[in-house]
Amino acid sequence: MNLVPVPPLSVLAEVMEQLPRGAFLTVKHKNRVNTMTIGWALAGVAWSRPVFTVLVRPTRHTYKLIEQTPDFTVSVPLKGTFAKELAYCGSHSGGSVDKFAECGLEALPVEGCLSPVVAIPGLHFACRTNLRAPMDPDRMDPALASIYPQKDYHTFYHGEIVGAWRAEA
Ligand SMILES: Cc1cc2nc3c(=O)[nH]c(=O)nc-3n(C[C@H](O)[C@H](O)[C@H](O)COP(=O)(O)O)c2cc1C
Repeated sequence: MNLVPVPPLSVLAEVMEQLPRGAFLTVKHKNRVNTMTIGWALAGVAWSRPVFTVLVRPTRHTYKLIEQTPDFTVSVPLKGTFAKELAYCGSHSGGSVDKFAECGLEALPVEGCLSPVVAIPGLHFACRTNLRAPMDPDRMDPALASIYPQKDYHTFYHGEIVGAWRAEA
């Protein structure tokens, strides 16, 4: 698969259009790689850096991995592709299955990042975590409380974008 570098902030409209249908958040810890579907993310500029932020609940297997690794990647399929794989990776835990094997997905190493991307056509971001920010429910708008009946508040992982690529089919 040919990865062509892109200016990260120039492709955000495409990312945000796809996001409600899902993207892959991939983390590698030691020799274990896992990917999960995300539907919520932020992207922009902070600390004078391009930053991609993902939200992960503590109940996810991904949470255990992302807490212990310096980086993560986000792989964004385009135009509604990979719907079956996104549904699977958004409903199965990497604690009990190898989602790459089950979905026939391939992990593709990228330079400057321990976590690989998912080898699919689309947009890919390699992110070095520069802040892990757990939500403080005491400082949350109570209007959001219904999103957290189990009180499993997300942690926000702010990752400096250290690489961004477009992969063609
Ligand atoms: C479309 C979609 C979007 C999702 N977005 C998120 C998200 O942004 N954050 C999150 O913690 N879980 C999200 N999930 C749920 C996780 O993908 C799901 O719990 C997954 O099985 C976790 O995998 P893991 O246990 O291997 O980490 C989403 C699921 C779907 C189907």
